[in-house]
Amino acid sequence: MKLYIETVGCQMNELDSELVVASLRKEGYELTHSAAEADTILFNTCSVRQHAEDKVYSALGRLKNAKREHPHKVIGVLGCMAQKDQAIIFKRAPYVDLVVGPGQLHQVPSLVRELRVEGAVRLQRMEVSLGRKEGSRAQIERSHESFDPLRDPAMRPTPHQAYVRIMIGCDKFCTYCIVPSVRGPEQSRPPADIVAESRQLAGEGCREIILLGQTVNSYRYREGERMWRLSDLLAALHEITGLDRIKFVTNYPKDMTNDLLAAVRDLPKVSKYLHVPVQSGSNAVLARMKRGYTVEEYREVLERTREWIPGVAVTSDFIVGFCGETDKEFELTMDLVRESRFKNSFIFKYSERPGTKGADLFTDDVTDEVKRHRNHELLALQNAISEEDNHAFLGQQVTVLVEGPSKAAEKHSEGEAHPAASSEPVQLMGRTHCDRIVVFDGNPRQIGQLLPVTIYDANAHTLFGEVVTRQGGAELFSLSLPTKV
Ligand code: 5AD
Ligand code: SF4
Repeated sequence: MKLYIETVGCQMNELDSELVVASLRKEGYELTHSAAEADTILFNTCSVRQHAEDKVYSALGRLKNAKREHPHKVIGVLGCMAQKDQAIIFKRAPYVDLVVGPGQLHQVPSLVRELRVEGAVRLQRMEVSLGRKEGSRAQIERSHESFDPLRDPAMRPTPHQAYVRIMIGCDKFCTYCIVPSVRGPEQSRPPADIVAESRQLAGEGCREIILLGQTVNSYRYREGERMWRLSDLLAALHEITGLDRIKFVTNYPKDMTNDLLAAVRDLPKVSKYLHVPVQSGSNAVLARMKRGYTVEEYREVLERTREWIPGVAVTSDFIVGFCGETDKEFELTMDLVRESRFKNSFIFKYSERPGTKGADLFTDDVTDEVKRHRNHELLALQNAISEEDNHAFLGQQVTVLVEGPSKAAEKHSEGEAHPAASSEPVQLMGRTHCDRIVVFDGNPRQIGQLLPVTIYDANAHTLFGEVVTRQGGAELFSLSLPTKV
């Protein structure tokens, strides 16, 4: 039996897909890259912006004929859009068989099995969690089940890296954001489970783990008298043999506490890279967004972070064109980007989400043209800064965890055997400890290794380098590596 799965959205979704695939493999499924030859077609969806939803609905539209010709194919919509739209999905695409919210993904194997057994008898199954007002906090919490025990190495970003969920949900309720309603209440996972899973991953060859949470630094877990915070968890994970790097995303500015900054500073395996989205440089906009801090408070967080962790790379997210955003308010965001020198920023045009406070309270009154213009302007400013800062790396040596072939090399070798299977020279990509992307010529056998690379060129997004093979006659790394690449 063949499974085709398409994933959109954040890293949390990528992890969810990995786990769904692992559970279906246990049922005898194998992955295919072709929807046409699949017995089961799944979409793991995102609701953060309208655009992501539109893409899924049009992909579903393209399956209408396939389903008519092959009625036994199971078509499923999973994830945030399933939780948000629920039965609306069946209305818009009546040939969809399965709708499963992010808190119910553990049920996917049995649901798919049920649908296949029924064969030609047309069933539609929907499993979603309770809405934020559909029960007591405890009931709602229970209805969003974390889904973490099974791992599938083949579905990881690379075999040497893995996401590890440390919490689910969000309680911050920023007015633009759909996440708290679709992913439910904030719930932290027990530290012992996280450590055990990370140890297992390290045993399977993972050198880097990326801890995931919508507000990862709000992590709190009470164990008897003891309250575990993210800093405690980092210290525990740091002890795991085989792990070289620990990253975590996404941080909530207000929870950037000194114990966390000290942990990042003092634990060498923890990347000195922090994603701390500010969203806007205007206090009035931040208040409308209900972000819970002012620009001055964010500046203080940034200053403190840089004071405590020299060399730290900070990145941010921005929403442009939020309800009522004036030119002046946007200029304040430009000012903040100009002075903050983020490593990079992700910039989004505001997309109204029905069901959020923002949609109820405010009008989405900034035209798309203005949003687009502001997006370009802010991105151009950020890119100029990123490029300037990347130039400081010219001539420097960095340590790169090699992830795989570069995008260009991947395109070039499409349809060929996986490059790791050959030993032909190939363009590789990896990241520095601070999450900077580095591209260099290497050998597929180097994938998964930590290599010293000297940087000779840089643009806003990428450093270009050459692997250092010898220095002063001394071998720098293992003999299994070619001395010349
Ligand atoms: N419109 C545009 N961007 C959004 N984000 C979240 N909700 C919306 C929305 N309604 C952005 C925020 C967040 C990132 C993951 O997506 O910047 O940090
Ligand atoms: Fe959404 Fe705000 Fe929670 Fe982030 S902190 S997931 S932006 S509600």
